[in-house]
Amino acid sequence: MSTHNLNQAPLLVVGAGIMGMGIAQVAAQSGHNVWVYDTRAEAAVQAKHKLADTLAALVTKGKMTADAVQGVLSSITPVAQLSDAAHVRLVVEAIVENLAVKRSLFQELEALVGEHCILATNTSSLSVTAIANGLKHPARMVGMHFFNPVPLMKLVEVVSGLQTDAAVAQSIFDLAGAWGKTAVHARSTPGFIVNRIARPFYAETLALLQEQAAQPEQLDALFRGAGFRMGPCELIDLIGHDTNFSVTQSVFEANFFDRRFTPSLVQREMVEGGLLGRKSGRGFYNYPDGAPALAASHVSTLPATAQWVVHGSGDVADALASAVSQCLGGKTASRATSSNWVGLEVAGLQLRQTDGRPAWQVAQDACLKDVAVFDELPTVAGGVLAFACVGRQNASELAAAALHALGYVPAQVSDTPGLVVARTLAMLVNEAADAVLHGVCTPEGANAAMKLGVNYPAGPFDWLDRMGRARVVAVLHALDACYRGERYRVSPWLQRAV
Ligand code: NAI
Repeated sequence: MSTHNLNQAPLLVVGAGIMGMGIAQVAAQSGHNVWVYDTRAEAAVQAKHKLADTLAALVTKGKMTADAVQGVLSSITPVAQLSDAAHVRLVVEAIVENLAVKRSLFQELEALVGEHCILATNTSSLSVTAIANGLKHPARMVGMHFFNPVPLMKLVEVVSGLQTDAAVAQSIFDLAGAWGKTAVHARSTPGFIVNRIARPFYAETLALLQEQAAQPEQLDALFRGAGFRMGPCELIDLIGHDTNFSVTQSVFEANFFDRRFTPSLVQREMVEGGLLGRKSGRGFYNYPDGAPALAASHVSTLPATAQWVVHGSGDVADALASAVSQCLGGKTASRATSSNWVGLEVAGLQLRQTDGRPAWQVAQDACLKDVAVFDELPTVAGGVLAFACVGRQNASELAAAALHALGYVPAQVSDTPGLVVARTLAMLVNEAADAVLHGVCTPEGANAAMKLGVNYPAGPFDWLDRMGRARVVAVLHALDACYRGERYRVSPWLQRAV
């Protein structure tokens, strides 16, 4: 097929549910005439009424003009049968997530529409290659994966199956751009880009909860400190444990039960017990109250005479040095830049940034009695910072006091490898590296997809740059050494680069 310019081409949306109507709205706003079909009689008509109400509310808020709303609504035509829209040049399907039903719909469509009509699916978990199986012209089948809510979310994954014509994928890529979206090319593999790379964000927190390393509200606060809009627990409660669990399960099954994607027992029990999150009134938190405030723990004050030394070099050591200097009223912090670890020494206690090893192991390896390890430094001012400590009883008091003096909110968690944020970021990087290795996307595509599809504060390859490959690999090795199994094995892409 040659390149198609789909700008303002007539379009059919099949499925008048939440996604289908969002797609119809965005297309109509971009000047397309849109036909909408749904098997449930009157569903498309009702969905259009609902859209009219939503848009009227935007007029009241001054976000849209009445004329623009009229324009959108007059461009959307519900149809009672598919053949009423046989003249369209693009079909976007957003029906039930079922392979057999989607296949049969596209085969029916192929008999109705013209030979140059592109067939796009909004599937979030099925293989585009598999949906195209049975078509006479599978080259015209492509994934156009939107995110919910469609009018607000900027990302579209343009998913190519084995037989998708590159020109067809490019037309959809360009069209998404014309609709004001950022498109990213993806290969049809389980979870595409976002749903695959995001798995560890949930999985690591669920694993930490399973071993009782921290409380949900602590974990959420740590991720907010790292710049995430929501922590994993509050986000899962919002998504719904049933939905989140079923995406994890489908990625796990689609990867032939690769243990790296093993779903969580903690979450399965919650799903089975009906603790689904906001929608059921209870998940990790009770609703409508939501997450409780972090319990304020007593933090002692360091003696004014305490001696500080900042160890190591690089951005983190520099950030620590400037925090220490602020704490000392502007006096320059003492530095030991040639140290082979990054962190602080204060009042005889070493506080090291995690290299993945738990504190007990650092103590053993370095023949130290007392040592604390701390997590990735928060990127948000006054953010919560996880630490773990071994040694004298007052060592953890001292560690908390030191971190507090530097402007962080210390949160003691159990002595777990890579603590919380560093461990999770390393795993997100690892999954993204695998996605690149497998040709699913480029590093730039992965960064854009995660920032726009799930609102991450940075992309996985930005974190890779920030943490450095050696540290990411060290954290993964430490996790692997502790837990064994497939989950924490280092992506060959990262190994090669190191
Ligand atoms: P929904 O349940 O809100 O809407 C689906 C609509 O399709 C219903 O109105 C149903 O009557 C209709 N339908 C079912 N079978 C049909 C058929 N054979 N022909 C015509 N209409 C049919 O579902 P939703 O959430 O809009 O999802 C639709 C698709 O979008 C699914 O493939 C889903 O995986 C995908 N998706 C959903 C996202 C979400 O957050 N809800 C995000 C991204 C993709």
